[in-house]
Amino acid sequence: MLESELIWGTGLLAGLVIVAALVNAVRPAHRSRLRRAITLLILYGIALGGAYAFRAADQPEWSKGFFIGADVMRAFTLATLAALFTFSVLLPGVGVVLPMIASDLIVGIGYIVATFAILSHHGVNPTGALVSGAVVSAVLAISLQSTLGNIMGGVALQLDGSIHEGDWIQLENGKQGKVRAIRWRHTIIETRDWSTIVVPNAALLAGNITILGKRDGQSTPQRMWVWFNVDFRFPPTRIIQVVTDAILDAPIENVASDPRPNCVCMDFNRDGKESFATYAVRYWILDLAPDDPTNSRVRARIYTALRRAGIPLAVPAHTAFVELKDEQRTAKRDDRQLEERLTALETVHLFKAFKPDELRTLAAGMSHMIYTAGERITRQGAVAHWLYVMTSGTADIRVATHDGEQAIVAHLKAPDFFGEMGLMTGEPRTADVIATSDVDCFRLGKASFQQVLLQRPEIVGELSDKLAARRVELMAVREGLDAAAMKAREASERDRILGSIKSFFGL
Ligand code: CMP
Repeated sequence: MLESELIWGTGLLAGLVIVAALVNAVRPAHRSRLRRAITLLILYGIALGGAYAFRAADQPEWSKGFFIGADVMRAFTLATLAALFTFSVLLPGVGVVLPMIASDLIVGIGYIVATFAILSHHGVNPTGALVSGAVVSAVLAISLQSTLGNIMGGVALQLDGSIHEGDWIQLENGKQGKVRAIRWRHTIIETRDWSTIVVPNAALLAGNITILGKRDGQSTPQRMWVWFNVDFRFPPTRIIQVVTDAILDAPIENVASDPRPNCVCMDFNRDGKESFATYAVRYWILDLAPDDPTNSRVRARIYTALRRAGIPLAVPAHTAFVELKDEQRTAKRDDRQLEERLTALETVHLFKAFKPDELRTLAAGMSHMIYTAGERITRQGAVAHWLYVMTSGTADIRVATHDGEQAIVAHLKAPDFFGEMGLMTGEPRTADVIATSDVDCFRLGKASFQQVLLQRPEIVGELSDKLAARRVELMAVREGLDAAAMKAREASERDRILGSIKSFFGL
């Protein structure tokens, strides 16, 4: 008997030394788990010593009790060593790392099974032990209610797999950190400031926690916002273009290339008291730990791009607008604006036959307009009597075809004009005109045009020729006309348009 116990003892000690060496080599972080095995082995030795001592003192009952205890401790030591080998050496070796709670649970079940097996082997009634165990458990459960809540929380966290070690989370109080370990009673979270938050598991489950940078089925990195302000003098489309070009041009360290970073205008006049628009660059961060350094790199990219483009970041502006209104100054400004409009009108071949004073009349009635990419400047079917002269930008002429699709009839690029049909014939707009970039233009209304026509009605003939040519081009797309049909149509369209202009302007 003593001999077999000696073999067992030596075997367990050798096992402990081997497992300790392996744990040390494969997963040194688990070294603390060896403590339990050592304690159990010592308890095994003590129980065995006690059993032999009582036997020598002729106390067979006590001796038997200690032998049973020694058996139980031996089984526990064996189970602990097996678990250590499996969870800290074998599984990590093949890349599987189970959380501590999971391995503890498995070992705990092993202990219970071993205890029952040993008790029944020694002829002790396990149900009696079960009943007294249940009473003790009930007493413990009542006195350790909050601790048990945390323990159950820990088990639930493990089972539903909502949080894993290594996840970045944000707590309800706004603090962010990386989950280092989920323990029985608490979860350990390490923050970027190198502090550690210990959150009781029950509290973790009761509140809303945000798992950062995680989306079902995808490993999407977290979206980050970098804000900046630019004052109203600079159009949003230009700011967005300049910043987008700069952030996409070359990769930025720790910024994901997919999804691509982007820039948006988020607000005008934030808080109602500032004179700038608020913009944001949104990007997806690859590693959440260095968030501030990455934001800083993105800010530096934004700043230099804006500086290159001559666009300053907004400064708090408390501006008093002082306007000196003397006649000379006003006349000079009016002259300058008229010149700009005349220059624009000279690019319109429709007005080639107009005399300088007639062009001046038209210019006086023009107003400045801007549009941004994607905006619809005229809508097919709408009734509006404006002609637009583009000074910069591009636009598409789009028309609805028979099958309800949209077809592009022409691309316009400044200098060019559109809207002449609506202005001159009064007919509904024949097409949509969509800005395909920022468009700068002047808009001419019916009144000043009528003024010129009434003075020189004969120019109507030439205008009708030019209008008919565009009109037939449009019909060709809509109705699929060939060259011969187009030629035939042009003559009839010319007459029809002439009639329309005359009646619209009462000539
Ligand atoms: P309007 O009909 O007033 O509004 C839509 C405008 O689209 C139209 O005037 C023209 O100025 C323009 N447009 C229509 N067809 C063409 C075309 N084939 N080429 C260029 N511009 C066109």
